[in-house]
Amino acid sequence: MLIAVCSLKGSPGVTTLATALGARWPGQENPIVVEVDPAGGDLMARFRLPDTPGLVSLAAAARGRGGADPNLLAQHTQLLPGGLRVVLGPVGAEQARAALAVLASGPSSPLRRAADQPETTVIADCGRVDPDSPAFPIIRSADAMLLVARPHDDELAHVALKLQAAQQWSRRPCFVLVGDGYPTAEVSQALRIPVMGRVPGDDKGAAMLCGQGTGRRGLDKSALGRAAAKIALNIYAHGHSPATSNGSRAPHLQVAVPGEPVSGAALQPLGPQTRNGATS
Ligand SMILES: Nc1ncnc2c1ncn2[C@@H]1O[C@H](COP(=O)(O)OP(=O)(O)O)[C@@H](O)[C@H]1O
Ligand SMILES: [Mg+2]
Repeated sequence: MLIAVCSLKGSPGVTTLATALGARWPGQENPIVVEVDPAGGDLMARFRLPDTPGLVSLAAAARGRGGADPNLLAQHTQLLPGGLRVVLGPVGAEQARAALAVLASGPSSPLRRAADQPETTVIADCGRVDPDSPAFPIIRSADAMLLVARPHDDELAHVALKLQAAQQWSRRPCFVLVGDGYPTAEVSQALRIPVMGRVPGDDKGAAMLCGQGTGRRGLDKSALGRAAAKIALNIYAHGHSPATSNGSRAPHLQVAVPGEPVSGAALQPLGPQTRNGATS
């Protein structure tokens, strides 16, 4: 299964959520998190890891062998504390984009090849996206897209504007809120889409996913880790349900009001009294 995590605006916590999902993925599987953010990766610096292997070495190998080997992705991983496998993006945007020019394209993408293997989950951190992004083909080919936003006016205004188009990008678009702001139910009602999950603001949990503090056990107990585990279980269960595991495309179940044009779902102004950070 290939899961693309992305945002439409700002820096809401895409890398943090992608890493948390990988660390809290259910079952025995050890997923692979791949930093395909065209703006460059953050995990190398956050965890003080060497710059190779990673996305650049993967692209070089894929160029040589056409990316056909389903084990290629796993061969370019490094381990985070706790054992999560990651393909580190280069810090520089130029290098990241050059690697993506090789890796993001079509059915021979090493990410898709790896994700097509049984019991293999690939979580792609696509960063901030639009259809011009070099990571966009990865979103198109993913089995699920997690669109991450902070529930604030500025980010939600962008989501409201682009929602109809963004829902067409993926066979399973899912919307996830991170941190304090408007209550979940109000965002869902105003945008007329279900919110698949909410990750609380959790500085300690987020710091662990930036290479600070304790390891895996601390994350398991943290609010961020628990929220990520719930979201991961939801994606995992859906991906392994009989309706979707036979290759049929899942319907757009995430649209709350069937037949309603979502483009008209401009975010209603919400009163300040509702901005209490509640996680309804
Ligand atoms: N749930 C959260 N609670 C508290 N801080 C968070 C949370 N998610 C992310 N952060 C912090 O926000 C900053 C940006 O997060 P990051 O995941 O790198 O965002 P993005 O990938 O969208 O740019 C980091 O300092 C990170 O630790
Ligand atoms: Mg990021």
